[in-house]
Amino acid sequence: MIDHLTVEKILDTAEIVDVIQDFVNLRRRGVNYMGLCPFHNEKTPSFTVSPSKGIFKCFGCGKGGNAVNFVMEHEHISYPEALRYLAKKYGIEVEERELSEEEKKLSTEKDSLAIVNSFAAGYFSNNLLNTDEGIEIGLSYFKERGFNEYIINEFQLGYSHEEKDAFTNQALKSGYKLEYIEKTGLTIIKDNYKIDRFAGRVMFPIFSLSGQIIGFGGRILKNDKKVAKYLNSPESSIYNKSKVLYGLFQAKQEIIKNDKCYLVEGYTDVLSLFMSGIKNVVASSGTSLTQDQTRLIHRFTENVTILYDGDAAGIKASLRGIDILLEEGLNVRILLFPENEDPDSFSRKNGSSVTIDYINSNEEDFIRFKTRLLNEEAKNDPIKRSALITDIVKSIAVISNNIKQSVYIQECSRILDIDENVLYSEVAKIKRRKYEEAKKQEYKSVVPVNTKTIPPVPSYIDKVYYEAQEYEIIRLLLLYGNKVISEYIDTVTSEKRPVTVAAYIIDQLRNDQLEMKNIMNQKIFSLAEEVLNSGNQIVTEYFTKHPDPEISMLSANICSSRDQLSPLWEKRGSPLLKEDKKLPEILEDLFIKYKLNIVKEGKKDLTERLKKAKADLNEDEIEELIKKIANTNEIIKKLSYIQSRVIL
Ligand code: CTP
Ligand code: MN
Repeated sequence: MIDHLTVEKILDTAEIVDVIQDFVNLRRRGVNYMGLCPFHNEKTPSFTVSPSKGIFKCFGCGKGGNAVNFVMEHEHISYPEALRYLAKKYGIEVEERELSEEEKKLSTEKDSLAIVNSFAAGYFSNNLLNTDEGIEIGLSYFKERGFNEYIINEFQLGYSHEEKDAFTNQALKSGYKLEYIEKTGLTIIKDNYKIDRFAGRVMFPIFSLSGQIIGFGGRILKNDKKVAKYLNSPESSIYNKSKVLYGLFQAKQEIIKNDKCYLVEGYTDVLSLFMSGIKNVVASSGTSLTQDQTRLIHRFTENVTILYDGDAAGIKASLRGIDILLEEGLNVRILLFPENEDPDSFSRKNGSSVTIDYINSNEEDFIRFKTRLLNEEAKNDPIKRSALITDIVKSIAVISNNIKQSVYIQECSRILDIDENVLYSEVAKIKRRKYEEAKKQEYKSVVPVNTKTIPPVPSYIDKVYYEAQEYEIIRLLLLYGNKVISEYIDTVTSEKRPVTVAAYIIDQLRNDQLEMKNIMNQKIFSLAEEVLNSGNQIVTEYFTKHPDPEISMLSANICSSRDQLSPLWEKRGSPLLKEDKKLPEILEDLFIKYKLNIVKEGKKDLTERLKKAKADLNEDEIEELIKKIANTNEIIKKLSYIQSRVIL
């Protein structure tokens, strides 16, 4: 931390014209200075600097502030980083606030790792350009792929010799501590051996926003199916792969200038597009797009175009990406390349001008994209069509900006030929449900529903549809919603409070973010929630006499089974006891089964994905999936155990 006095000294010393002149060509105009704004594209200067006031202001784009703000904005660095930059410029010694031992250790460790990485990048680059092995193997590989000197330089590409410990030896000889070398992941220590993680690979350094090298990707050159095609640095105190976008350091100014960012899948896609002149491009390399990464993009622009391979995996990834980006408030466009082509292979085959044209004329708005994609199967099938609409409406509902949202609703209404008002009310419903969900979550944490705990379904499992259990949940909700099944002690008032069937059901579903997949069930469920939230009790007649005929019919149907035993209940061959006398057990049994089904299905999906990741030799993904599967097995074990103890 920089102490207070030093901050003041820096602010007093930094002369705004002098600071900005390092980046912008300024000309005197009376008492002020003017130049072309570095924050937007302009041909006549509207960027003004006032030395007397110590501020800058652009009358074109509206950006303005003091010298520190300028450095932060221009270099995209934090406040303390900007202060350090200015201190360095003016030779001011920075008095750092005394750090705690813990902080000190971490900050020296971070610096040390970055220093080792920077040495390594230089070493790998020298290998590539100046050693026989590097030139013959590494450089000729890059040349074969069409990468020129400019791109090799710009991204500091390199080569790691085949000899197993060439890098490690050189780093130790140059005086770097083994402890830090190991922590960067560049060296793997096993028993008495020290080996280079990336031996025999071409190297892609990964830069932080401010240009520090925080990690590496390394590609094998041979077509060896037994070895992972790409290896990445392990996570460290400076490298967190879910918070990094490959290429952002090189792309950031271009992203701002074009007010747009292209998002691709891999290292080589970034390089090829960059070389084609599309420099506002980044990749989420090695992970599926994360929220942190979308935030990072948002610092530079609101407009993102996803450029993925058109295979099944690419489609799945782009559908996931769309919602994450929309949620972050970004405008999303998509272009899928022809199957089995990525931006790299496409631009290599077709050249840069064709690629640029192809992107410009084929990228489409996410609604058009989704509609086209889903319409193919939904054309003449009203059920699929309504699922398609629900799907698109869900995406629209995550957009928080109302103006944008209504533009998309109009677009959607036009393309799908549905009344705008219907769409508005659907979106409103989803939003309300989300809002209530959020409220529920808060409510949850203060009011524990005292039931035996059933382990939750992890959030990474896709929730699938189980008709029988959904129906059963709705049935119990409508018939016995107000029945008290247990009680809990309110921690605030110390009073005893009842737990109703409805509260139990809502609690079970909401805590695990489970939702009814059948639209009718979903309708009834949210209606029941609304009734409870407004402080009323669940009255069966409210549903059976509901003005929406679909609801009243379904409810009537469900409730006509009042005196029967539940179908699930019957299967277990239990004695003929009225079900309302055994509600806690029935509910527990029901939810265990429901969750078991979902988790088992989820496990199947994870296992499939693991198979695929193994075929792709995607090590990070493999590791992640193995962890998830193990966790899933644990949950299945627990659920099965509890199930065996429930006595109906
Ligand atoms: N990836 C990874 N580990 C793997 C495979 C892929 O980390 N074993 C990451 C890399 O960042 C890679 C991206 O996923 O760039 C996309 O993978 P893929 O499409 O298989 O590779 P390409 O980028 O097409 O690489 P290349 O053209 O060199 O084959
Ligand atoms: Mn490729």
